[in-house]
Parts: sequence; structure tokens; C-alpha cells
Amino acid sequence: MDLFEYQARDIFEKHGVPVLRGVVATTADGARAGAEQLLGDESGVVVVKAQVKTGGRGKAGGVKIARSADEAAERAGEILGMDIKGHTVHRVMVAEGARIAQEFYFSVLLDRAERRYLAMCSVEGGMEIEELAVERPEALARVAVDPRTGIDQAKADEIVDAAGFPTKTTPEIAAKVADVLQKLWAVYQGEDATLVEVNPLVLTEDGDVVALDGKVTLDANADFRHADHAELEDKAAADPLEARAKEKDLNYVKLDGEVGIIGNGAGLVMSTLDVVAYAGEKHGGVKPANFLDIGGGASAEVMAAGLDIILSDPQVKSVFVNVFGGITACDAVANGIVAALEILGDEASKPLVVRLDGNNVVEGRRILADAGHPLVTLADTMDGGADKAAELANA
Ligand SMILES: Nc1ncnc2c1ncn2[C@@H]1O[C@H](COP(=O)(O)OP(=O)(O)OP(=O)(O)O)[C@@H](O)[C@H]1O
Ligand SMILES: [Mg+2]
Repeated sequence: MDLFEYQARDIFEKHGVPVLRGVVATTADGARAGAEQLLGDESGVVVVKAQVKTGGRGKAGGVKIARSADEAAERAGEILGMDIKGHTVHRVMVAEGARIAQEFYFSVLLDRAERRYLAMCSVEGGMEIEELAVERPEALARVAVDPRTGIDQAKADEIVDAAGFPTKTTPEIAAKVADVLQKLWAVYQGEDATLVEVNPLVLTEDGDVVALDGKVTLDANADFRHADHAELEDKAAADPLEARAKEKDLNYVKLDGEVGIIGNGAGLVMSTLDVVAYAGEKHGGVKPANFLDIGGGASAEVMAAGLDIILSDPQVKSVFVNVFGGITACDAVANGIVAALEILGDEASKPLVVRLDGNNVVEGRRILADAGHPLVTLADTMDGGADKAAELANA
């Protein structure tokens, strides 16, 4: 799960990473109130920042300086509703303005191929970091991080040195940066992140090292260790059907087509998507409407929950159930489908093509044939089932 900047800021603060104060607002008036709070009596500046889960906000006009509360409201009015690379801005963060002397870059991420972590750091950070990485890759240090030791003092010193910080002439700055890197490592490890990126990490004119921007990706596989991560989820952005599926522990992804897909096992579902897309070419170009993996135990409840979600998608015109019986045998799956249709009653209103194969297939097919549900068509093969489902979706 990717976090918004303001969420990353809060997590940084929790682990002692120096950050600036910030107030989140969803309206121009809210931004004015936030700016009043931050500006106080002293004359200063605030920065109004678009909160979207994509990079390049500054270049797109989503980061603006304001010198008064009214100006902050005006800038927020411009930024709210803006589209940045396909992301609509629903929130801004009004942040305390920093007097920047220098901008640095730091990130740590999971390096799957090398089975360890990778830290990247440069004394030349800021919005041009992508260009820097291409044009002068030697200016962006890449330092391997052993998961067993992480970024301790020695590793932090190594990274800072490799990044080009003048450790001889300004050792105090290098030391402050090394200290912040260890705290960012505490974020990475303590929160089970797969990415922590700070661009820019700045040196202020007062000589402080501060994280001005943060990108954090959390590893959802570690959610069980972090009860507090659930509330970081952006529920408003999630597709409502995807959210419902998640509540029922179903692996569901909404797609754009017309043929609803239910299968067991990610591999089978993936190939079913391909076969349906291919069959759809002969039937008015219909496409898969979703990815739904009901997993190993295709019980009646799971089948009913899955069917319920797919049938709730108004774009769905037909459903293709493609199940390979393994540990859960085909007769159990067939009973699941029959029971699911009973549970759903009139809510099941779209044609269903069912292809069963594998363990106990003969009995499974007999159960479905005997039930004789008017919406159900049995298919012998995966290709045949896909073709029938595409045809029905196009009817
Ligand atoms: N609180 C702040 N005070 C002063 N200047 C800021 C502040 N926040 C950001 N800036 C300036 O604006 C630039 C862009 O801000 P930021 O890094 O947050 O956005 P961005 O880099 O465009 O977004 P992204 O990292 O998502 O691509 C920074 O490099 C910095 O110069
Ligand atoms: Mg940035």
C-alpha cells in the first residue's frame, strides 16, 4: 500500500525523523485555517502541497508557496480538483515553509533480485533526480544493505560518504544526515515498508536536516503485525466492489469488460482471462469484467459471496465459472454453486457458464445437470466455456 505524503510525514515523526508541521485540508477554507495555525504571528511562508499517490507533483503545479493565509486558500483552491497524472487532488497539505540551503536524495527499497535492500542517496537531490539518475548515474550512490544488520551507524556513514557528502569539510552535516538515515531505516524496518523515499531531504539555513517530502510503501503481507495500518487505507479511492470483496477475503480485481470470471487459483484465473478475451474477439469484442480467485476451498458461502459481487457489477452480462477440482472436489464445488444460486435467489439474474474438471468431475457435472437451473449452462472445455460466456455477454 502506497501512502500519501502526509501519512508518510506522520510515520516519520513517530520514528524521530525530523519533519515540518503540516495540516491536511480538503477545502480552500480548511487550507486558510491550517495556514493561520502554522503562520502564527511570525511572518513566514507555508507550502500548499497536492496529496496524490504519484510523483512529479511540483512540476505539475501541485506544490505552491503562500505568504499569507488568504494566499494559501487561493493556492489550495487552484490545486484541489487538479488532475496530476490521472490522480484527482482531493486533499492538500499545508506545510510549514523551510528555508532551504541544499536538497539531498535518499531512498531504501527491497531489492528482490539480490535478496537484500538497496539504499540510494545523493548530495544532489530535488525534483531533477530522475534526470540525474540517467545523465550522471555515478552521482547517485547505490549501496547494498544487509537485512541482518540494516542501516546502522557504519552503514549510514558508508552511504553518506558514497553519496558525495563532504565528510572532511563539513563533517557535522554528514553526521546529521547519517543520523536521519538510521531513523529512516527504523521507519523502513519498524513499519515493514518496501520503500521509503525522501526527496528532498534538506539542509535548512539554520543547519537542520529535515525530510520535506516522503514516499512510503507498506508491505500488506505484514499487516497482521500492524493493526494501525488499516486506517491508512484510502477507502474513498477503492472500488466499492473491491472493498466488499476484501471484507470477504476474496481476491477480486475489477476490470472493464462484460464477462464476469470466477476461478480457483491465480494461474487458472489468469489463463481464463486470456481465453475469454480471445473468444470475445468473435463476439463483438467482449472482454473479462474482473479477476476473481475463490482459492482452494470453493464452499457454498465463498461461491455465493463471489457470485454476489460479480453480479452486482452492472457491466457484467454473463459469468464464466472455471474451476479445477483438486483437494476441493468438483462435487463440492457443484453443490456450492447450486447452494449459492439458492442463497442469491432473484439476485442471480445473469447467465452462468460453468466448466468443471479434475477431481470427481463426473459427479460434479451430474449435480449441476440434475439441478437444472435455468441460468446455468454446462461447458465441457475451457475454450468452449469461454466461447459460450462471450456469446451470452454479446447477446
Ligand atoms: N515545506 C517546504 N518548504 C519549502 N520548500 C518546499 C517544501 N516542500 C517542498 N518544497 C519545495 O518544493 C519542491 C517539490 O516538493 P516535493 O518534493 O514535496 O514535491 P515533488 O518532488 O514534486 O513531488 P514528488 O516527490 O511526488 O515528485 C521541493 O524540492 C522543495 O524545493
Ligand atoms: Mg519530492
